[in-house]
Amino acid sequence: MRIAVIQFAPILMDKEKNLSKILSYINSIDSQLLIFPELCLSGYYFLNRHEVSKIAELPTGEIISELQTLSTILNKGIVIGFPEKDGEKLYNSCAVILPDKTKRRIYRKTHLFYKERFCFDSGDTGFFVIDEPEWDIRIGPMICYDWRFPESARTLALKGADLIVCPSNLVTNVWQNALSTRALENNVYMAVANRIGSETRNNETLIFNGDSAIYDYKGEVLCKAGQNDEEVIISEIEPAKTRKKSFNDYNDILTDRRPDMYEL
Ligand code: ACM
Repeated sequence: MRIAVIQFAPILMDKEKNLSKILSYINSIDSQLLIFPELCLSGYYFLNRHEVSKIAELPTGEIISELQTLSTILNKGIVIGFPEKDGEKLYNSCAVILPDKTKRRIYRKTHLFYKERFCFDSGDTGFFVIDEPEWDIRIGPMICYDWRFPESARTLALKGADLIVCPSNLVTNVWQNALSTRALENNVYMAVANRIGSETRNNETLIFNGDSAIYDYKGEVLCKAGQNDEEVIISEIEPAKTRKKSFNDYNDILTDRRPDMYEL
């Protein structure tokens, strides 16, 4: 199976331009699953809930519906970060859109980063895995800062994920080894779609560091983007290979766990 990670610089509060770029990537990339960055429909650095509410989308709204139609017509899966509204609630979400529209799920970011707490509600979906037997893959989403909590990736692995997709807007340079390790310790593929560029609000600039990558289930880099450029990286993966969690005759990384010994 061929998966693609798209690294680009969304424009803050310009949904039209961002969507047009996203659509052109979906139409042109030869890959079954396309993974886009966190909040790439809207840009990232909101200052308050009012700003988010002006641009937030319903998961059943026009844009997600348009992406769903494209997914079905082109037979491509799409993972995309967007600001979601649900009544008065606002979430930093990602949609996992598969050609079969009954499989579509929305993941709401569990761990909010920095000033996101002034703009979004904490996610309430929890971690889940979407099974697509057509492609023999189980996809588990998490978003950006969720990486700092090994419980996120572990929960997805325990739920059967073969591939963790991680739409991101990472502003540090300390995550690379950790995400490779999350892949290794869970024996899963990991696709990190980070953005590039910067956003300045109230004299504070956030710089997004690129470095998007696809790691295999040994934690090795399959392909990697640079830190500054718009790039698409593509890898072939074999999801079924992640399911054997033993690495010798006696050890299995899931069944060897001792939850009674952990104070979690
Ligand atoms: C982040 O969660 N956007 C760092």
